[in-house]
Amino acid sequence: MPTIPISAPARLDGKIALVTGAAGGIGRATALALAEAGATVVATDIADHAEFESDKIIYRRYDVTSRDETRSIIAETKAEHGAIDALILCAGTISHKHLVDSTDEEWRSILDVNLMGVVNP
Ligand SMILES: NC(=O)c1ccc[n+]([C@@H]2O[C@H](COP(=O)([O-])OP(=O)(O)OC[C@H]3O[C@@H](n4cnc5c(N)ncnc54)[C@H](O)[C@@H]3O)[C@@H](O)[C@H]2O)c1
Repeated sequence: MPTIPISAPARLDGKIALVTGAAGGIGRATALALAEAGATVVATDIADHAEFESDKIIYRRYDVTSRDETRSIIAETKAEHGAIDALILCAGTISHKHLVDSTDEEWRSILDVNLMGVVNP
């Protein structure tokens, strides 16, 4: 059976990454992986607090639906770290309701996070 060569993971020392939705799920796993690879990570989420056992990760509360908060987090990160080399947008939400049972408000809320949360930055 042929073997598949796996190259060593890239090192990201000196790079700055901003990750949204980083209090849990894919965002948290991504923030930890980036820090493990050497990047400084600004991990963000709508949650007030999130714990990371890495001194390469700085946590900031940030609601991706807010344009004002988007401008602030980007400006603060650039001012504190000089640049943003990678922007990784994992914040997301889902509804388990049937389409016909969802209210306009619920649709707007989902689109605000899942669509505008990617457009805003
Ligand atoms: N996990 C999967 O297999 C999978 C597959 C396909 C798509 N997705 C989608 O990818 C996205 C991330 O998945 P996940 O499993 O990590 O979900 P998750 O629910 O574990 O994490 C999403 C994170 O986004 C944060 N968030 C929600 N609204 C926010 C807001 N307004 N501002 C900032 N942060 C906010 C939540 O607090 C949470 O920490 C979701 O939209 C999910 O539906 C997930």
